Amino acid sequence: MAAKCRICGRSATYYLDHARIHLCEDCFIKYYERKIYKSIQKYNMLEGAKKVAVAVSGGKDSLALLESLYRIVSEKFPELKLAVIHIDLGIPGYSEECRKIVEKMCGDLDVECHIHDLRSEEGYTIPDFQATPFRRRICGACGTVKRYLMNKIAYEIGADRLATGHNLDDVVEVLFELYLKGSVGEIVRIKPVSWSTHPKLITKIKPLIELTERENLYYVLSRGLPVLSVQCPLAKNSRMLKRKKLISMIEKEIPAFRHTLYKSHLKRIMPKLEKTVKEPNLMECKSCGMPSLSELCSYCKLTSKLKKTSQNLDSE
Ligand code: AMP
Ligand code: FES
Ligand code: ZN
Repeated sequence: MAAKCRICGRSATYYLDHARIHLCEDCFIKYYERKIYKSIQKYNMLEGAKKVAVAVSGGKDSLALLESLYRIVSEKFPELKLAVIHIDLGIPGYSEECRKIVEKMCGDLDVECHIHDLRSEEGYTIPDFQATPFRRRICGACGTVKRYLMNKIAYEIGADRLATGHNLDDVVEVLFELYLKGSVGEIVRIKPVSWSTHPKLITKIKPLIELTERENLYYVLSRGLPVLSVQCPLAKNSRMLKRKKLISMIEKEIPAFRHTLYKSHLKRIMPKLEKTVKEPNLMECKSCGMPSLSELCSYCKLTSKLKKTSQNLDSE
């Protein structure tokens, strides 16, 4: 016999194994949006906010974020402005489709949309890093570029929050790595809200932090949002994907492993760590003027290495 929805009793579409419940599509949508609203309220993500920049890659997580935030903001925070930031990374066979999806979503929802094209605005693309010593850690270099530009653009468009689509699977994958390495200074920064500590550093929020990648996929399917037909070709075989696979295997043996690790981190470890680990002192990068831990920020260090490599290649 087909399973019934726990809430309305109609035939169920989805099974959420961590919660052991069956839900139909309509009840799943309500459950999902309510869960995000609860996270927003629990962590005061939008308290005092006037404009939220939503970083949208075109993948399922950030599309789910945009759609659900748009609905929650329209209903519960009508004064709040939303703006989308998309960085076109210039990865052939991938970035074109991501950009098209984001442009279409912004058009459909009629939201302010800022597309930042790496090639035309910065003079390089992510695949250019393949010719540098970063080729083995290209996802890391890409992460540095995205983090820096998302913050910079959010600052330039006058946003006071930057929302990203990081989900529970992403956060647990990072925690897994950081706990293994014992990187206390970084562990303490993994949280639902990172409040600004510098006028040019925008407060970051992760409204999907308590939802799994699978729940985001179900939401995208339920709401009929577009689904990317390709994955980033540069991330294939990355350590990040290997760790995610491993965590899925653990989850099969230890149900709700991700939820448990995240909760222990937030409730048991963080309060203790926050008392002992000091906030790093930020200065302004001497090259770009954005917040930095050292004289030159990690973005300027990275791009100067890229420039040097291409100059060397040109002179060969
Ligand atoms: P990732 O680091 O690729 O797992 O992405 C984490 C989050 O960063 C996504 O959910 C988006 O909110 C944001 N993001 C990633 N790539 C882009 C992009 N190209 N443009 C805008 N935001 C992005
Ligand atoms: Fe950054 Fe693939 S999206 S390397
Ligand atoms: Zn800099």
